[in-house]
Amino acid sequence: MSTTQPIGIFDSGVGGTSIWREVHELLPFEKTIYLADSKNAPYGEKPIEEIKDLSRKNTEKLLDMGAKIIIVACNTATTNAIKELRNEYSIPFIGIEPAIKPAALKSKSKTIGILATRGTLTSTLFSQTSDFYAKNINIVEVEGRGLVELIEAGELDSPQMRSLLLKLLEPFFVNKIDYLVLGCSHYPYLIPLLKELLPEDVIVIDSGEAVARQTKSILSSNNLLANEQTVEKPVPEFFSNTNPKVLEQLTEALKYAYKVSYLDF
Ligand code: SIN
Repeated sequence: MSTTQPIGIFDSGVGGTSIWREVHELLPFEKTIYLADSKNAPYGEKPIEEIKDLSRKNTEKLLDMGAKIIIVACNTATTNAIKELRNEYSIPFIGIEPAIKPAALKSKSKTIGILATRGTLTSTLFSQTSDFYAKNINIVEVEGRGLVELIEAGELDSPQMRSLLLKLLEPFFVNKIDYLVLGCSHYPYLIPLLKELLPEDVIVIDSGEAVARQTKSILSSNNLLANEQTVEKPVPEFFSNTNPKVLEQLTEALKYAYKVSYLDF
């Protein structure tokens, strides 16, 4: 394994670019390859075995492309498949889990909300994390059914998105949460709208920065960090297995140099 090999990132679609952005900001000298499995989005409604198989397929592709580490930038895939991936492949995997711990520690009202897919909310890893870090906290769980489909269609602030969100957020209003944890890598694209729709004092948190820090630390402990003295800033590469139009829109909005292409995987 060499330091010049890329960091591989996969998600069920375009949402994991929110994680990619944090990784790229912290590690701009790392070559990154992003796979958007939009053809199979959303993962959150699929049976566990299918989520595991899709995660293996994405992993194999990233390994073919020379990845030295893989970020599973999808909460549903992390909570349902990362254990198997770590058992079956020898490179390091970084997962993304809902930021329950910081929200539970900081909450004054002792009532926090989590917005995630059914696949994440029903996973064993999620219930273990909540039981461990939020014993004395009331967690209001809401399944964000329909949100991923709209985000995949590029609808980040459409009338349909607004009315769906207002309906989904209702339990958070009723229960007076003070922290909202975003448990899906697609949802950070909704933060501007969420801030507008939620009461002013509700703090929205996602896991992007923590994933980036963890990636840096694991690369460093495996002596795999790119050498900033010898490497030129690489151009990130994004691949989608559907029409990459929305991926292009999102990456363009991120304002970095990038290359977006179609890839059959
Ligand atoms: C999904 O594909 O359903 C959402 C991805 C995620 O859980 O982060």
